[in-house]
Amino acid sequence: MATAAVPRAAPAVLPRHVAIIMDGNGRWAASRRMPRAMGHRAGVEAVRSVTRAARALGIEALTLYAFSSENWRRPAEEVSGLMKLLKLFIRNDLAELVRENVRLRVLGDYRRFPADVVELIDDALARTAGNSGPILAIALNYGAQAELVEAARALAVQAAAGGLDPTAIDADAIETQLETRDLPPLDLLIRTSGEQRLSNFLLWQAAYAELLFVETLWPDFGADDLAAAVDAFGQRQRRYGGL
Ligand code: IPE
Ligand code: IPE
Ligand code: MG
Repeated sequence: MATAAVPRAAPAVLPRHVAIIMDGNGRWAASRRMPRAMGHRAGVEAVRSVTRAARALGIEALTLYAFSSENWRRPAEEVSGLMKLLKLFIRNDLAELVRENVRLRVLGDYRRFPADVVELIDDALARTAGNSGPILAIALNYGAQAELVEAARALAVQAAAGGLDPTAIDADAIETQLETRDLPPLDLLIRTSGEQRLSNFLLWQAAYAELLFVETLWPDFGADDLAAAVDAFGQRQRRYGGL
């Protein structure tokens, strides 16, 4: 339900970092006999209400999977439609993000996007860089395997240059190279639309995240659904291999 951001009473256990695989825009449109682009447009509205709701709930970091490194496989027209929506979102919503003290982050190799999009993103990052509030991380041309390949490569380069003892490479060393290194640990990973896979998203970070797969299509996902997800998270018992 795309409703206004009205938070409930603060839940007992709040996830610090929530990530969402925003899936189902195309099926939302198809079920209405609309073109897929209309589903993406409706998806942007859901982004707006869910980012507001996350702030109202007090979630420290929200990471949204907006474009995967595999989404280039879609028809060029759909890809360029998504770029247009991204530009619209930044143009319309940046002022609010600045005002709300949001720290914008981008995960993924967004520099592969068209030059005007890259310019807008860089400007948005610069304008929120001095903020100190909640983090909104958007995954753009992101792939977790590429992220891990990059991390391995960076450590190998350091080792080859003699600046790093290869036997000292541990999980912490890898985490310093991940794009999420400044974010709190991932607590809750949500995927909408009924699909139950990670589609190359946050593979390392999801090691001990709680996973929540919901049937709701992304354009229908709203503040209430986020609150329900956070409630469900609060009911989970995390054991990290212990008892
Ligand atoms: C998610 O919705 C948005 C992006 C991947 C950009 P989809 O476009 O994947 O919607 P479905 O899965 O075809 O319904
Ligand atoms: C994952 O959704 C990527 C995003 C939500 C941006 P997809 O719709 O691309 O994933 P698959 O192809 O169904 O695995
Ligand atoms: Mg999909």
